Amino acid sequence: MAIFEYAPAPETVKAPIREQYGLFIDGKWIAPRDGRYFDTVNPATEETLARVAYAGDEDVDRAVRAARKAYDKYWRRMRPADRAKYVYRIARAITERSRELAVLETIDGGKPIKESRDFDIPLSAAHFFYYAGWADKLEWAMRAGEEPNPIGVAGQIVPWNFPLLMAAWKVAPALACGNTIVLKPAETTPLTALALAQIAAEADLPPGVLNVITGDGATGAALVGHPDVDKIAFTGSTEVGKAIQRSTAGSGKRLTLELGGKAAHIVFADAPMDQAIEGIVNGIYFNQGHVCCAGSRLLVEESVHEQIVVRLTDRIQTLRLGDPLDKNTDVGAINSKMQLDKIKELVGSGIDEGAILVQQSCALPERGYFFPASFFTNVQQSHRIAREEIFGPVLSILTFRTPEEAVEKANNTPYGLSAGIWTDKGSKNMYIAQYLRAGVVWCNTFNQFDPSSPFGGFRESGFGREGGVHGLREYLAH
Ligand code: NAI
Ligand code: MG
Repeated sequence: MAIFEYAPAPETVKAPIREQYGLFIDGKWIAPRDGRYFDTVNPATEETLARVAYAGDEDVDRAVRAARKAYDKYWRRMRPADRAKYVYRIARAITERSRELAVLETIDGGKPIKESRDFDIPLSAAHFFYYAGWADKLEWAMRAGEEPNPIGVAGQIVPWNFPLLMAAWKVAPALACGNTIVLKPAETTPLTALALAQIAAEADLPPGVLNVITGDGATGAALVGHPDVDKIAFTGSTEVGKAIQRSTAGSGKRLTLELGGKAAHIVFADAPMDQAIEGIVNGIYFNQGHVCCAGSRLLVEESVHEQIVVRLTDRIQTLRLGDPLDKNTDVGAINSKMQLDKIKELVGSGIDEGAILVQQSCALPERGYFFPASFFTNVQQSHRIAREEIFGPVLSILTFRTPEEAVEKANNTPYGLSAGIWTDKGSKNMYIAQYLRAGVVWCNTFNQFDPSSPFGGFRESGFGREGGVHGLREYLAH
């Protein structure tokens, strides 16, 4: 039981939201050809926030044409140092509007305001700042004999878990390298991408350099299939990633895929335990577990299993679940009803297969989509909860006895996005890290990001990198 209750501390700034949004094509807000719109809701209240245009095939075509024209007419020809100024201006505008962008991200997607305020928005701005600096130094990213040429028109499809940040990861390097863009945000979280379009317009970005089209999977598929798109960058589910890879095969389109994960988070008995517990909590409950690199498979050395379970049981009781706009909230709303149903179904399978569920005992708000912070003990490697991406605040705890067993279990997954290791011994950290088949390995920390550091996976977590010079090269034809 909580020793004392925190008084409510709601964010009071209101984000400016229009009742209805058109498509941002060729520097203008335009109505969709066939007049279709859809609602985006606040998952914490189930209230409709705005009506958003649904881009059909013709709209996708208009957006790609605008991007092509802008590529040939302005963007590929512009002096790199001038291109940098635009990217820098966008970075500045994100910083200046960080508070209202944080509110938008939180009400449209459900994540706690302290996360959108302290993580999503500052890191989005940081990516624009970082890549602005690269625009006139691209030759330094090249290997001998390579020239830093842009690729052309990039189709960028982003998910709902980090809407502005995933857009920033893609838009910033693409612009810096001289590509033009058609960006498609996820259907449940379009508002910050639309705000980014507004920012681009106010930054005087030449028309057509960044186009933002809203819609669903069919809109995304039309963008992927458009013959005049030169590159697709996708972040989302492995299933859709595979479909995109199939449909672009043989087309000559460049492709990067950042897909799902089931990261192993390994805790050795000699770990600094107070920090490790916080690392575990951050690894799985950050953003309600809607994180592709979430530390969702906890592998603990058998001798400390009981201790960790006891401490985690206590710790999750202190997490505050509720209104995402409250600055004290740790666990916000699940992004959509669909995602909530998926989490419930997988948690049900865990119980049916014999795992033991521990949950924070708190009342869930009456409206909105919420799921308490949870973990499973008694988990077998064969359980679905140990193999499938839950994408919710649900951790599966398994044990190991030797470092070799930890590595073997960690790698026993079709995914390979991230991993974490906790041990007091630096040499053990390094030794284990080299055997983990994951794109990112965090040692004695978790979920650390920096624009200069590449991020990405392999196997079913996708390929290609975002961030750093690696992410830059994904937008250059060489
Ligand atoms: P999704 O992969 O369907 O959606 C991601 C984006 O792709 C959205 O913008 C969507 O409109 C678009 N999209 C959907 N179908 C497409 C297609 N055929 N061609 C092109 N674009 C398409 O993910 P969804 O359905 O929202 O979530 C399902 C599961 O995927 C989640 O439960 C989670 O496990 C996983 N997921 C993983 C993410 C990650 O960052 N690795 C992000 C989002 C979801
Ligand atoms: Mg929404």
